[in-house]
Amino acid sequence: MDSFADFIAGIPKAELHLHIEGTLEPELMIALGKRNGVSLPYPDAAAARQAYNFSDLQSFLDIYYRATAALITEEDFYDLTIAYLKKAASQNVRHAEIFFDPQSHTSRGITFETLIRGIERALMEANRSLNMSTKLIMCILRHLSEKEGFEIFEKALVWKHWIAGIGLDSSERGNPAEKFRNLFERAHHEGFLAVAHAGEEGSAASVRQTLDALHVTRIDHGVHCMDDAVLVAELAEQQIPLTVCPLSNVRLKVFDSMRQHNLKAMLQKGLLVTVNSDDPAYFGGYVNENYIEAAKALQLDRNDIIQLAKNSFTASSLSKIHKQLYLTEIDRYAATHESSSLHF
Ligand code: HPA
Ligand code: ZN
Repeated sequence: MDSFADFIAGIPKAELHLHIEGTLEPELMIALGKRNGVSLPYPDAAAARQAYNFSDLQSFLDIYYRATAALITEEDFYDLTIAYLKKAASQNVRHAEIFFDPQSHTSRGITFETLIRGIERALMEANRSLNMSTKLIMCILRHLSEKEGFEIFEKALVWKHWIAGIGLDSSERGNPAEKFRNLFERAHHEGFLAVAHAGEEGSAASVRQTLDALHVTRIDHGVHCMDDAVLVAELAEQQIPLTVCPLSNVRLKVFDSMRQHNLKAMLQKGLLVTVNSDDPAYFGGYVNENYIEAAKALQLDRNDIIQLAKNSFTASSLSKIHKQLYLTEIDRYAATHESSSLHF
């Protein structure tokens, strides 16, 4: 009989909150550092892993942006992206909407063309040979100015055919969504999908402001929405997706432990929540480990897992017909794995 972990591993799922730079495993970072003659703060992969002890979002971001120094050539961005895609495909991720942070590279003298060509080549390969569809979402760094955001946005327009959406990441504290109102208006005007991080280190009010100021169709994280019952009712009523990242939240001390995480409570409120890995090379797991750790700590049952997998496609930017195909596939999977054990 399949274990519950096997049931989770095998179910088709989408990943909607994944920073490609956050998939840079220490081994690849060290190898790229050597290949490019770039000196990194760690002598080896084990030393890097030891340093990945975070007290909050900012302490993580400092380490995460420093590691991008290893990424120089188009080949590096290809190697980074294909490694993630192979891992995701092995976990039955069938569709991925992938963030990238171009400002963290262009600020180091890497051209937009270099990074996007490398990423895109890997995405095309995954579409061809890994049975996976993908979309790219360009994130704007919110600790920088809106003017700098506009500068990268203009550069991105040349590559618009490869970019599905615009997102907003980095330090939420001190950088309210309002700061990027004009930029997101422009993004809407250009026909991009719009999403933004909110309610991770920020409050329920930050989620509300993000919806009001940026008119995003999805909130990344959003866990603090639960502090405002009126907001929760609205999010549930409008089925606005929230891309939750359980291991990230525990590692960045948004919750003291996985047992304190509010994922189950969010499901019970009827919110359109999904499970994602955020920055798997830093937080101890890819999407399956996020499902499994959350399921163990919060006693998620079979129906919760089926709901979360379905939500991941419903919350995606896939077409209606593609969503329906995946939902039917999940129903078929559930029906043919009815005897799966509820034990790990
Ligand atoms: N929050 C904000 N910015 C980020 C994150 C996150 O979880 N991961 C990578 N950049
Ligand atoms: Zn994130």
